[in-house]
Amino acid sequence: MRLPFSLFLLLSHFAAGARKHTFDTHDYYILEHDPLVGPPLSQVASHLGVQVVEPAGELDNFWVVRIPKQGPSTSPSERDGGEDRVYAALEALRSTISARDPSHHVARSIANSVKHLARQELRQRVKRAPPPIYPSQDDDDHALAQPIMDELGIHDPLFPAQWHIINEKYPEHAMNVTRLWEKGITGVGIVTALVDDGLDYEHEDIADNFWAPGSYDYNDHQNLPTPKLPDDRHGTRCAGQIAGVKNTVCGVGIAYDSKVSGVRILSGSVSDIDEAAALNFHYQNTSIYSCSWGPADNGKSMESPSYVIERAILNGVQNGRDGKGSIFVFASGNGARHADQCNFDGYTNSIYSVTISAVDLKGLHPPYSEPCAANLLVAYSSGSGNHIVTTDRGKGRCTNTHGGTSAAAPNAAAVFALALSVRPELTWRDMQHLAVRTAEIINPDDPDWEKTAAGRHFSYKYGYGRLNGYEFVTLAQEWELVKPQAWVELPAVQVGNGKSTLSGDMSGGLPIVPGGTTSTFTITSEDLERNNFDKLEHITVRVWIKHHRRGDVEVEVTSPNEITSILAARRRLDADKDGFPGWRFMSVKHWDEDPRGTWTLRVSDIGAEGRTGHFVGWQLALYGSTKDPSLVQEYQLSLFEKLLPSLPSPNGPSGDNDESPSSTTKVHPKPTDHLPGDHGETEGEADKPAFHDDHPANDATKPSITATASATMIPTADEGWFSDMSTLVSNQKWVFGAASIVIMFGIAAGIFLCRRSLRRRRPAEHYSALPGDEVALGAMSHGRRGPRTKELYDAFGEHDDDDSDENTALRVDSPGGAGPGLEFHEGFLDDEDPNTPRTALTSAYRDEPEKDTPSRGAASPSRSGSGDGSWEHAS
Ligand SMILES: *[C@@H]1O[C@H](CO)[C@@H](O)[C@H](O)[C@H]1NC(C)=O
Ligand SMILES: *[C@@H]1O[C@H](CO)[C@@H](O)[C@H](O)[C@H]1NC(C)=O
Repeated sequence: MRLPFSLFLLLSHFAAGARKHTFDTHDYYILEHDPLVGPPLSQVASHLGVQVVEPAGELDNFWVVRIPKQGPSTSPSERDGGEDRVYAALEALRSTISARDPSHHVARSIANSVKHLARQELRQRVKRAPPPIYPSQDDDDHALAQPIMDELGIHDPLFPAQWHIINEKYPEHAMNVTRLWEKGITGVGIVTALVDDGLDYEHEDIADNFWAPGSYDYNDHQNLPTPKLPDDRHGTRCAGQIAGVKNTVCGVGIAYDSKVSGVRILSGSVSDIDEAAALNFHYQNTSIYSCSWGPADNGKSMESPSYVIERAILNGVQNGRDGKGSIFVFASGNGARHADQCNFDGYTNSIYSVTISAVDLKGLHPPYSEPCAANLLVAYSSGSGNHIVTTDRGKGRCTNTHGGTSAAAPNAAAVFALALSVRPELTWRDMQHLAVRTAEIINPDDPDWEKTAAGRHFSYKYGYGRLNGYEFVTLAQEWELVKPQAWVELPAVQVGNGKSTLSGDMSGGLPIVPGGTTSTFTITSEDLERNNFDKLEHITVRVWIKHHRRGDVEVEVTSPNEITSILAARRRLDADKDGFPGWRFMSVKHWDEDPRGTWTLRVSDIGAEGRTGHFVGWQLALYGSTKDPSLVQEYQLSLFEKLLPSLPSPNGPSGDNDESPSSTTKVHPKPTDHLPGDHGETEGEADKPAFHDDHPANDATKPSITATASATMIPTADEGWFSDMSTLVSNQKWVFGAASIVIMFGIAAGIFLCRRSLRRRRPAEHYSALPGDEVALGAMSHGRRGPRTKELYDAFGEHDDDDSDENTALRVDSPGGAGPGLEFHEGFLDDEDPNTPRTALTSAYRDEPEKDTPSRGAASPSRSGSGDGSWEHAS
């Protein structure tokens, strides 16, 4: 990248990478600058009145900029409601655009070169803490482990207790990697980054496998990820599962000759800039990012990564590992007891992440492990009385109390490290294909299993099944690489002339009636051919739904082959009133299905008195492999993905009529249905469907009501959102995703939509010409996310009467501790009784005494002492 000399001088100060940002003295912004469109960055910065701090992570043309804070009178609330100086400066530049005076050319080109500008706020990510379950007394039965120890020279004292590697009691339930070790497959040459709360790199069980260059502390902005807070143990424990050294300390990691690095982000708040940089840190030499965290698992949050973080994840899969793609492994979440689902978490429901849920040592589904259609696999973790045994922070320390989906994800990451050590050229999508193909059904009588169109088994609880390390790596060895990715983003369906603005306000739509309101869309062979699309992998469904209570809403999509993916089931604690303004769900259940034919989206609710809603729109996208790899293009992330494209006017060329051959809408009467009741037993289960017992889709008797047929197939996005622009200027509420405020600018839209429109279906009769792009673009404005941030994390403010037990339990730990950032939910599931006796597995190690477990300090804004502050237990 060529930089102006002055900028070069400025940046050369910060050559060492991410710098600590002083949020107390400055406001920070992320700025995406297109150097081809306007003047150099330095000039843009001076017009906006900001200093350029440094490049933002690994993202080309993204910059961190800042401005000194104004006086002490500027409280956060004032700033939320009042003018932001930098946005105001950009808006002033932009407002000259429609004035066709040539002297405004400079201002115009400056404004046009700013594709994205977002003020940064600090937020706290949440560890996927295990619910406490006490280990049962071990039998000291080494019958299966001993021969392996003898054969491979394993002298780690806790190896026999590592049931996730060799399970003495239930031998069929283990990660199944010892036969790979016997073949010499131990992870050599692969680095896994633990994006977590630090890493005890001096621990005897980690030191030899620690890769310092790939490590960084984004909480304290230091080079080494030293655990500092009292409970910074999580990263070390996860690292031990992957690369615990084969020696005489604790147990071993599944890939015990691989390397681990620590990227510390969970020990305090981080900005989106830092989170984005963390997910791309050293991404040429780091293969896997093991992420056991996410938005709060409280059954009421719905949050996706902001634009810059999504860009970083996309950058990772497109450019990481020399273009083969970073492997992002995410824990599905521990909120199942609160009816949380991994499709309400934008990290776990991303097509770019591998989502891992948990099963316990009996192979049962632990009550914490979140179900959803985006679940790919399960790996072993705590439940039915046992935890994961691994390394712990502190000299010579080990633990037998690690667990939750937090511990399932690293077990999977470790198997992926083994696979990459024998086939480093596998791409991120090859890894997912191997997962789908080698996963094994577990508890075959569990009613949650269904057959997919491709003949596989899928379950919301188990994904495609348990990860069998041996099968995964063995198939990896002979696997033929998949062709590059192709995708089909189908036109959005406006239901009942529904509309949305960029700021998330929705209007129109059809009422959600008893039995559900449905809308259909038909995919043709031409749709696939035009997009060079061969075989289906993921589908995503973006929905626009207004509702008085989001947790009442159920969403499901049914494919042409009658395969239904439940995308949202009832969430009894989610009382949010903003509905689903362009929320994206994901399903892996349609993998290898022929997508041609009619897809049906059904939106229903529980029919509670006075709590109603409208189905406003939806948009289906298919991701899979290309037919012709020579025509492959690079996927571009849209700045406008949360906007429901709509026609210029309701009475426009295809407004209210239903000329579209591919889309219809109807309503059905309602069968009653609820999620299964609370299943908060520590013992796992394998006899309940993840969501409904009597799901509407299974009710063959339901009569159907005549379609009102007001859905409209929208041919392209190009015209659609121009009609909404006038409303954007006055609208100040950005709905979700971005940390604070996002300004989106016209030129980016123009470029993006021009590109995209080339791929789109555009029957001429469905749109009218625009008056002139320049005028329309000039009207583009920003949405704003204000108080919403707090609402999302105002954890336990509102709840449902019928869940009083649940809520009482919840309130114990997080009574309205809404800090400015994310709810830190350590201890959220912590219902442990300190009096319960616990036993150590052996005397060879020592755990921390409970009374020494201090509650979290300053880094935990919402923590409000509830007895034991630890998110897990150390006996
Ligand atoms: C390991 O994989 C092999 C081959 O699929 C299988 O026969 C064996 O039962 C598996 N063992 C475990 C513990 O999963
Ligand atoms: C990263 O890997 C490349 C080749 O794969 C190698 O040339 C380079 O030295 C590595 N960098 C570090 C810091 O290890």
